[in-house]
Amino acid sequence: MKALVTGGAGFIGSQLVEALLSRGDEVMALDDLSIGKEANIRHCLGSGGCEFVRGSILDEDLVRRLASGCSIVYHLAAVVGVHYVVADPLKGMQVNLRGTENVLAAAFASGARLVLASTSEVYGKSFQIPFVEDGDRVLGSTKVGRWSYSTSKALDEHLAFAYASLGLRMSIVRYFNAYGPRLDPRGYGSVVARFISQALAGEPLTVHGDGNQTRCFTYVEDSVKGTILAGTVAGAEGEQFNLGSARETSIADLARMIVDLTGSRSRLEFVPYARAYGERFEDPQRRVPSVQKAKEILGFEASVPLEQGLRRTVQWMRETETRRSQG
Ligand SMILES: NC(=O)c1ccc[n+]([C@@H]2O[C@H](COP(=O)([O-])OP(=O)(O)OC[C@H]3O[C@@H](n4cnc5c(N)ncnc54)[C@H](O)[C@@H]3O)[C@@H](O)[C@H]2O)c1
Repeated sequence: MKALVTGGAGFIGSQLVEALLSRGDEVMALDDLSIGKEANIRHCLGSGGCEFVRGSILDEDLVRRLASGCSIVYHLAAVVGVHYVVADPLKGMQVNLRGTENVLAAAFASGARLVLASTSEVYGKSFQIPFVEDGDRVLGSTKVGRWSYSTSKALDEHLAFAYASLGLRMSIVRYFNAYGPRLDPRGYGSVVARFISQALAGEPLTVHGDGNQTRCFTYVEDSVKGTILAGTVAGAEGEQFNLGSARETSIADLARMIVDLTGSRSRLEFVPYARAYGERFEDPQRRVPSVQKAKEILGFEASVPLEQGLRRTVQWMRETETRRSQG
């Protein structure tokens, strides 16, 4: 297969590129390097099977050219995470909406299959736990910047369904707190990277709120496995899937695990949300995927235990820190 991976130099995208190459696929990675790094995929280049193009999904002609001749497009490029979206909401919406429409139109024109990367954020602050793919979305006011990310990704899903009604063969994956090596400390899964950095530096681990809010942390290797299944299993077309671990962990427990795993003497420091994000910030208390549909249709289950995934992530962050300090 020849695959186009948008956001291919990013955290999940670069590991998807590696996994596709190891399956024997040919891969073209497109990224504007606004957040991703060429270093994330440099080791994949030069083998003949992988090409990197620096460019934007906002460049309609470029996207169309790259998609033609591909049998599948994995669309991961986006402005990701509360930090970036709150910092520049207009850019976030332009990239996530216009850029995604360019990618969908290009895949449609070329006859390629498409996997759209969406997010658990689309469920907003729904209390229907676990989140079932067809469940309701519950969002706050449009004056609260963080909901623009959820809304832009939900609109991407609507656009994908609209193209599917015209004949695009597409599937949607909703990631739940992916973490692992190459995690961007300011990105979506920032809490894992931030806690590890703080623990390694011997600084307090800053827990927002009371720390009882829960998330289902999913090792990136599992997120990538589910993404490839969504792009290859025949019954996946026209469907959206939660890709997440079924294990619910509170943020305070995550912090304690990281302190233990790193052998750090750091303590936990509880910081009110208002101090961390401003007065009108809202954060869902629980975010738990229903894993049934992905299991039944894709045969997908997250399999890397949290302790193991965290250990690998700590090791990667230690190595990265050592390389940085050696210049
Ligand atoms: N990490 C998670 O837990 C998580 C959770 C939910 C959804 N997602 C989704 O998964 C996808 C990948 O996220 P990630 O965590 O790897 O984040 P990431 O920021 O590492 O990856 C996104 C990549 O897109 C690139 N990009 C941004 N704007 C671009 C543009 N205009 N043109 C080309 N490239 C552009 C960035 O440089 C970056 O490399 C995103 O669509 C995100 O919304 C991630």
